[in-house]
Amino acid sequence: MKQINVGIIGTGWCGGIRAQTCAVNPLVRDLHVCEVKPERLAEIAKATGARTAAKDWRDLVKIDEIEAMIISATPEDTHYLMARECLLAGKHVFLEKPIAIELHEADELIALARKKKLKFTIGYSQRFNPKFAYVKQSIADGTIGRPVSALVSRHITRGLGKKITGRTKLSPAAMEATHDLDFVLWCLEPAKPVRVYSQVNYGAMKATSGADIPDTQYMTVTMDNGISFVVGAGWSLPPGYPNFSTTWIEMVGTEGSVFVDDSHRDVVVNTLKSGMQLPMSSMPGEFVAHTYAGPMSAETVHFLEAVACDRPVLVTPEQARQVMEVYIAADLSAERHEPVMLPLPESRPTASAAAR
Ligand SMILES: NC(=O)c1ccc[n+]([C@@H]2O[C@H](COP(=O)([O-])OP(=O)(O)OC[C@H]3O[C@@H](n4cnc5c(N)ncnc54)[C@H](O)[C@@H]3O)[C@@H](O)[C@H]2O)c1
Repeated sequence: MKQINVGIIGTGWCGGIRAQTCAVNPLVRDLHVCEVKPERLAEIAKATGARTAAKDWRDLVKIDEIEAMIISATPEDTHYLMARECLLAGKHVFLEKPIAIELHEADELIALARKKKLKFTIGYSQRFNPKFAYVKQSIADGTIGRPVSALVSRHITRGLGKKITGRTKLSPAAMEATHDLDFVLWCLEPAKPVRVYSQVNYGAMKATSGADIPDTQYMTVTMDNGISFVVGAGWSLPPGYPNFSTTWIEMVGTEGSVFVDDSHRDVVVNTLKSGMQLPMSSMPGEFVAHTYAGPMSAETVHFLEAVACDRPVLVTPEQARQVMEVYIAADLSAERHEPVMLPLPESRPTASAAAR
């Protein structure tokens, strides 16, 4: 069995899950971690038996033996530079969403990975949620016929909304609904999005922070085969179980439909100390004794296997770029109060490029 050496940049919530997953996987020979918070670095290095514990991510990039890098740092505008340097150093890259801030940055990363024949994938973890995979399978095997329309609604707690909006100006479309845009666009392939209309709604987030932060964002996306779908997400639910998330999916086809309740109301813990709690309800999921509830562990293993066994990655960077274009269009639409056509002007080949 081929083993690989793995580096992880940023070991907070998601990076911590990925580090713990890698630490016990037999495909991983040595694990190297990097984290700017000294206490967290010491904690995760000890918990995972990491070979290197670095404060500066460039120190990991310099280690030639590291074949695969997982980039889980925040804020999100650090992603492009970190991914670029890792790819330039010849390392396979797993990058948490978003792929980049600007489309041209995503294009550069995609071209670099292709030129160097490296695996490059983005953390659209919900594809590894078995309920989501079931919807995809129901389309692929013909159970529900040809998709006609779809709806996905997602909400998370305002504590998490505050954490996210405290570090980035990216919208609910870019940071939350992005998972569902990726999922529905994947289900509807090979159709391509051609038009996006979106609105944002203000409430608790603006009232409590004073900043221009919406509670929810909904968008209607039209595809080039005439199908349209609705995706929306919000981050203003009251506090509950840490990082609680709730999702509802409707996928309607010509021969049937699949409705998915991923609202995480199926396990209820009630204690005198904390009242009612809905465990195992965060988007990435959590370790539960000897097992894992949620998609992030399986997603991490998929990347390890893709690198070690030279298998294709499930989420291609081209797909992640398409998602990025849709949520950029959604933000433009919400700002302009009008539909936005795709591809965006910056994605269209210029006359000189087209002539080449
Ligand atoms: N797939 C999912 O379900 C999911 C869920 C939540 C977040 N995310 C994404 O995962 C990424 C991480 O989010 P999170 O919630 O784990 O954030 P987090 O803030 O909990 O963790 C990020 C960590 O990166 C560290 N860091 C910051 N700058 C660094 C640097 N220069 N070098 C090394 N470490 C650095 C921080 O100290 C922190 O510990 C984000 O891109 C986010 O959008 C994905």
